[in-house]
Amino acid sequence: MDIRPKIAVEKNILSRRLKGFTVAPQDDFLESRKALMLNTDVCISVAAPRQSMRDYFYKNADADEVLFIHKGSGTLKTFLGNIDFSYGDYLVIPRGMIYCIEFKDTDNRLLVIESYSPVYTPKRYRNWFGQLLEHSPYCERDIRKPANLETHDAVGDFLIKVKKQHMLHQYVYASHPFDVVGWDGYNYPYAFSIHNFEPITGRVHQPPPVHQTFEAGGFVICSFCPRLYDYHPQAIPAPYNHSNIDSDEVLYYVDGDFMSRNDIGPGHFTLHPSGIPHGPHPGAYERSIGKKDTLELAVMIDTFKPLQITEEALAIDDGTYWNSWLDDQH
Ligand SMILES: [Fe+2]
Repeated sequence: MDIRPKIAVEKNILSRRLKGFTVAPQDDFLESRKALMLNTDVCISVAAPRQSMRDYFYKNADADEVLFIHKGSGTLKTFLGNIDFSYGDYLVIPRGMIYCIEFKDTDNRLLVIESYSPVYTPKRYRNWFGQLLEHSPYCERDIRKPANLETHDAVGDFLIKVKKQHMLHQYVYASHPFDVVGWDGYNYPYAFSIHNFEPITGRVHQPPPVHQTFEAGGFVICSFCPRLYDYHPQAIPAPYNHSNIDSDEVLYYVDGDFMSRNDIGPGHFTLHPSGIPHGPHPGAYERSIGKKDTLELAVMIDTFKPLQITEEALAIDDGTYWNSWLDDQH
């Protein structure tokens, strides 16, 4: 089955706001995925699956998947063991892992990031041996590996849906894909909670790389977490206007109050394409003076190649974002 996203805007220069929560929930995990923005390095989707995967398994043969759990909880089941997840978890699933997901209930919202290169911890936080260094905002103890390996020694017809080159192929295995008694190695799915990301703060404004959580070929993933604002006596907490000439910037808003933005709510995306400078909305600088901290929670994806916009994205684009920098909007 051809599931290639339908591109609506190949060459985008508009800043956009997409309302992710307006995507209607669907029963099936794979059908509920809606690709919004993509290039040859990454594909960004949302999903609101109502049901657990009951009658098939899934394997992405092209991409590592990072599933960010915005709403919902449950268990990721793989042939290397299980990982329980809940709100705020990043589930990092290397390509080729056969998995299924069980949700505890029907109200689930996921941000899905497919990476066509491996997803790593940031290189500057690793030492020569690969260990995370002391100044890393998280450490190995925060990483939850698969546990409770379930060995299913069963024969029958087991459907595996395999995603490859924007096609969804169907394989039927004669034995259960989780017929595994043990494993060894360093390529395994894991969970990391955004709530365990320790923000790096400073007397003056810290640039966005302090929020970096993962790196991959052609893009980075960053976590904006509750933190102290800049504490120099004359610091203005709102970030500076900037010209993001090196990357398209996608922010996905999770929770809290988004200080630099007006009219932004949970589940919204903003896209600031490279080539067009941007900064806080009118009133945000004044509003930020004297503020000590923020409760904002957001995921940012900066892509070094421009993103294409899909038809699904245009359907949830409110079309008014460019307008939000005009003074009479606040
Ligand atoms: Fe920015």
